[in-house]
Amino acid sequence: MTGSVPQGPGSDADTDPVMRGVAATAPAYPAPAGIPVSPDPAAISVRNVTRDYRRPRTSVLRASEPVRALRGVSFEVAQGERFGIVGESGCGKSTLLRIISGLDHATTGSVHIEGTDLTGRRDRQLRFLRTRLQLVFQDPMSSLDPRMRVHDIVAEPLVAQGRGPSRERVGELLEAVGLQAAAADRYPHQFSGGQRQRISIARALAPRPNILVADEPVSALDVSVRAQVLNLIADLVDELDLTLVFVSHDLSVVRHVCDRVAVMHEGEIVEMGPVADVYDDPQHPYTRQLIAAIPTLSKALSGTTAADLTRETSP
Ligand SMILES: Nc1ncnc2c1ncn2[C@@H]1O[C@H](COP(=O)(O)OP(=O)(O)O)[C@@H](O)[C@H]1O
Ligand SMILES: [Mg+2]
Repeated sequence: MTGSVPQGPGSDADTDPVMRGVAATAPAYPAPAGIPVSPDPAAISVRNVTRDYRRPRTSVLRASEPVRALRGVSFEVAQGERFGIVGESGCGKSTLLRIISGLDHATTGSVHIEGTDLTGRRDRQLRFLRTRLQLVFQDPMSSLDPRMRVHDIVAEPLVAQGRGPSRERVGELLEAVGLQAAAADRYPHQFSGGQRQRISIARALAPRPNILVADEPVSALDVSVRAQVLNLIADLVDELDLTLVFVSHDLSVVRHVCDRVAVMHEGEIVEMGPVADVYDDPQHPYTRQLIAAIPTLSKALSGTTAADLTRETSP
């Protein structure tokens, strides 16, 4: 792991072509006043988080039983760590990511991002979070507005913060994800699935976040393209010293990009540890079951060549 030092003045951010200019004009969004911030906090701290969803009532006589999507989840992610969360569909991964990202609230428990408690914050008060933490979703087609040009899509998080991004900066971001700067003038449908996910990644990097949260970012892509997008994410996380939270139902994908992994089952973490330990010596029967079911993508990943990596890159 190389990314243990948070970015600051004098770091790579000053010389990195992507982040130059972004840093220079970034306004400070300090944590709201009155919220205790510890001196050297974890990037993410999740304590005893539960999330209940209401089910529609089926009988007027009986109160409906809630769906308990998370049943007391706790973990910490250190600055610069690459943390994976695996588990089958419906185990609560997306619910957990939404709560970490301030898009949903825990029913009980607490979440701290870089020492700031998100509990009870309203949307307006969570604005500071958008400069620290950005998301990449599974399906780049539905997360990119088809009527917007790529320039406006990538610039959107900056415009939302009242910053007018230059063409040059959008071009730098596009080049950082392996596209040409001229891609800014086109529309999402003019790109392949892998290229669209590159655009989503450029948009996520635009506000210069410290933390990148990715929810199944390659699951909707063709198998042939997955390794390229995964390698891109891994390289950017390294270069920009990002903290990564990477969710997938596919263990081989998480193994490829993460240092540590949590295995989720029915709303709980059943096993957590360094990827090598969990994959080579799984302790929980559910983890063993998941590992036994690993598909052959790992073979495709290990066979990736430099030529593969550049094939997808021109629009
Ligand atoms: N908005 C919602 N309303 C009701 N139930 C939900 C909602 N979102 C998720 N759930 C339920 O919570 C559980 C976890 O879902 P989710 O977090 O999407 O799992 P995963 O991302 O691991 O597939 C599932 O049983 C799902 O049906
Ligand atoms: Mg999900």
